[in-house]
Amino acid sequence: EIYGDRTNSLGLNMNIHSQADDFIAAVQQYRDKQWQGGPIVDGKTIETDHHVSITSPQETSKQIGSIYWGDKQLADKALTSANKAYRAWREVAVEDRAKCLEKFADLMEANRNELIAICSLEAGKGLQDGIDEVREAVDFCRYYANQARKLMGNPIKLPGPTGEDNELFVEGRGTFICISPWNFPLAIFVGQVAAALVTGNSVIAKPAEQTGLIAYRAVQLALEAGIPGNVLHFMPGSGAEVGSFLTSQEDIGGVCFTGSTYTAQAINRALAARTGPIVPLVAETGGQNAMMVDSTALPEQVVTDVVASAFQSAGQRCSALRVLFVQEDIADRVIDLLRGAMEELTVGDPLLHETDVGPVIDGIAKTNLEQHISDIQQAGRLIARAPMPDYTMGGTFVAPTAIEIDSISQLVKENFGPILHVIRYSTDNIDEVIDSINGTGFGLTFGIHSRNETFAHDVASKIDVGNVYINRNQIGAVVGVQPFGGRGMSGTGPKAGGPHYLTRFITEKTRTDNI
Ligand code: NAD
Ligand code: ALA
Repeated sequence: EIYGDRTNSLGLNMNIHSQADDFIAAVQQYRDKQWQGGPIVDGKTIETDHHVSITSPQETSKQIGSIYWGDKQLADKALTSANKAYRAWREVAVEDRAKCLEKFADLMEANRNELIAICSLEAGKGLQDGIDEVREAVDFCRYYANQARKLMGNPIKLPGPTGEDNELFVEGRGTFICISPWNFPLAIFVGQVAAALVTGNSVIAKPAEQTGLIAYRAVQLALEAGIPGNVLHFMPGSGAEVGSFLTSQEDIGGVCFTGSTYTAQAINRALAARTGPIVPLVAETGGQNAMMVDSTALPEQVVTDVVASAFQSAGQRCSALRVLFVQEDIADRVIDLLRGAMEELTVGDPLLHETDVGPVIDGIAKTNLEQHISDIQQAGRLIARAPMPDYTMGGTFVAPTAIEIDSISQLVKENFGPILHVIRYSTDNIDEVIDSINGTGFGLTFGIHSRNETFAHDVASKIDVGNVYINRNQIGAVVGVQPFGGRGMSGTGPKAGGPHYLTRFITEKTRTDNI
């Protein structure tokens, strides 16, 4: 039996010109719009003393708007209000909370083109990425609405002696601090907030520094959908100030975090150092994701899937492929095809249909990635770099790069961009390869290309990761279809978009009734 209902939203086929042309024209109308935003406390946008202008990664001289940042005092005010509001919110029937999320999803779909334009202009996302981003945000809302109905709709009746009624209730925990990254600035931001709200918690949502405008627009739509202003507060600002302040407060109900492993560890320490209630931390973090390709694989399919996994979204997906292990018998063939495919990649303006790879998020990311390429090239052998655009606008582009190295242990951290490392292996050292992948301590995604089902399933069972993909690319998990999230240094679980996710946002109570 298949679990769950297929409630995923409809996409758009960019290969059908009649659909794609109108859509692209509609999104491009927003190219010169200016967006404004700021903290939202009790439903009101606040103009603070800290006003930050937002520029576009594909054209760093272009300002696309500005946003006010919150600080500790304002975060404290939001927390006080959220803590007062959550008891009434958790008494609201789950059906009504679920309907608010569904209205929110409808509003995002109605505003899809604007949301995609902001995603692209603020975060450098391509058109297909933008479509997928809105779909995922919408899917999270609809999926969690249905999951909450199942989980919270009725108390569970339990056995007891005659005359005694025993029931198990679940309810929200208090105020959740939701902290999100820039690389899924709408989908992950919305997914966290939706899960916490529908289970009856108040929320303070802190977006990444780089992507406050898309998050601001999402919160406006959530409030328009009927989420009360004292239940959902928005706090753009610095992670070091606002994020660390909120996660070190006594009176919070939990933290939902997605971002780097380093920041998750800092939050874990901050939570442990507090006095007061012990609260859950849901953390979804980085990866050192690998793929194994054996000699039975189809090289053409391998290369198509490797290019998508490593370079789509400029490699800025936590799921992205970082280390490709190729069995030596077919390594030369795969590497030749890969070189050819990379020469064909178009790097450039993400709002154009012909672009395959957009910019990386900012100048700091570009510098770090170029430094890694330069360092690792000295220890390895360059396979290919994709051609760079003839682009004079100052965009933060990094050419997709493939480098052959000897061992995964040469990689000391996650390199969050379009860089692929390739390692040859022989059939004699398959166990060593598996041990070396598990030995990184990360456990997010893993890909296998093989037509030997026994081999593929055996490796899949031995690899310690959250998401395994066989004979396809290893990105783009779909809500309710590939619940997403890892283990070890890649996260605490439970998986986003899966049937167990909401359980971390609730607390349980039994009532034994002898009336
Ligand atoms: P980051 O850790 O730098 O920042 C994430 C968020 O944490 C931001 O909102 C930031 O302001 C905040 N923050 C920073 N310091 C803080 C502190 N001390 N206390 C509280 N909050 C703080 O990550 P990023 O660069 O925005 O995102 C990229 C990372 O996210 C990559 O490592 C990627 O693998 C990971 N990621 C993981 C998943 C997943 O589902 N596993 C999904 C997307 C991204
Ligand atoms: N859910 C995202 C993906 O699978 C991170 O690519």
